[in-house]
Amino acid sequence: MSFPITRLRRLRKNAVIRDMVRETEVNRDDLIMPYFVVPGTNVKNPIKSMPGNYQLSVDLLVAEIKDLVATTGVNKILLFGIPDQKDETGAVACEHNAIVPVAIRAIKKELPQVLIVADVCNCEYTTHGHCGTVVDGDVDNDLTLKTLAAQSVTLAQAGADVIAPSDMMDGRVGVIRKALDDNGLYNTPIMAYSAKYASAFYGPFRDAAESAPQFGDRSSYQMDPANSDEAIREVEQDIIEGADMVMVKPALSYLDVIRRVKDTFNMPLVAYNVSGEFSMVKAAGANGWVDEARLIKEILTSIKRAGADIIITYHAREFVTNELKAGRRV
Ligand code: PBG
Repeated sequence: MSFPITRLRRLRKNAVIRDMVRETEVNRDDLIMPYFVVPGTNVKNPIKSMPGNYQLSVDLLVAEIKDLVATTGVNKILLFGIPDQKDETGAVACEHNAIVPVAIRAIKKELPQVLIVADVCNCEYTTHGHCGTVVDGDVDNDLTLKTLAAQSVTLAQAGADVIAPSDMMDGRVGVIRKALDDNGLYNTPIMAYSAKYASAFYGPFRDAAESAPQFGDRSSYQMDPANSDEAIREVEQDIIEGADMVMVKPALSYLDVIRRVKDTFNMPLVAYNVSGEFSMVKAAGANGWVDEARLIKEILTSIKRAGADIIITYHAREFVTNELKAGRRV
C-alpha cells in the first residue's frame, strides 16, 4: 500500500493520537544522576564547565539528594569522589574512611531507599591521573586489578548498591565479582562500563573530578572511537565474567553501538550521557541558540530509542523538573 491510500500524517494529526502511538518514553525510573563528593563540610564548589553541577561535601550532598528525591522522584545516583590526598596506585580509595565510602554511609543512613551506584576507578585517586598502576609509562593491567577489587569491596561494604568499574582493564569484572563473592557480597550487582571509548567528551568531567592524566592519554586502555566490532567483544567478555548490566559510553556519538549491543545481547543496557555532551547543551542554551528543555528531552529520548534501558545523565534532575512543570507524566 502506498500514497494516497497510505498517509502517515494521519497518526500525527493531534496530540492525543501522537501520545497514543509514541514508541519511546523516558521515565524517571530510567535515570541515574551523577554527583561529585569532596572532603570537608559546607563545601559547594561550582564546576565551571558543567553549569548547575558542584563538588559537594558529604553534608550538602545528603541535603541535595534529599531534595532530588523529594522534588523529582529520581532515586538513583552515581558517586565520584575527589580525595584530599592522592597516591601512586589509588590505594587511598580502598580505605574504609575514603571519601566515597564515607559519603555512602551518610546517604544510606538518611536515605536508605536511594540506589547508590559507586564508580570504581583509580584516576581520581592517583597522582598521575591514570586509571591504574603505572609501570614503564603505561598502565599495568594485572597490578591494577588488585586495587580495583579492593576498592570495590570497600565500596560495597560501605553500602553501595551497585559497583560500576570504569577503568577498562581486561579481566576486571571477573576479579571484582570474585572479590565481592569472597566477602559475602554476592548480592551486589556489577554495572560494567563495557564499551568505554577514549573520548574528548570527557573533558569537563576531568575538571570536575580533577582526574586528567598528567602524561599521555587513555588510548592504551579505553576504546578507539572508530571501532564497533570491538565493542561487541568488550561487552561479551564482561558478560562472560559476570557483569549484571553493561554500558556504552559516551552515548550520543555511539547510538549505533548502543543499538548493536542491545540487538546482540539480552542484557540491561546502560548509556552514559557524558559531561561533554551535557556541557555542549548548556553552552548552546546559555547563548539562546537552542530550546534547552526540548533539546534535553530529544537527546534522552534518542538514547532510549537507540536501545538503552538506563541512562546516566547530568540532565536527570532538570529533565524531570521540566516534565513535571509542563504537567507531563514522567
Ligand atoms: C573514570 C571516569 C570518567 C568518566 C566516568 N568515569 C573519566 C575518564 O575516563 O576520563 C567520564 C564521565 C563524564 O565525562 O561525564 N575513569
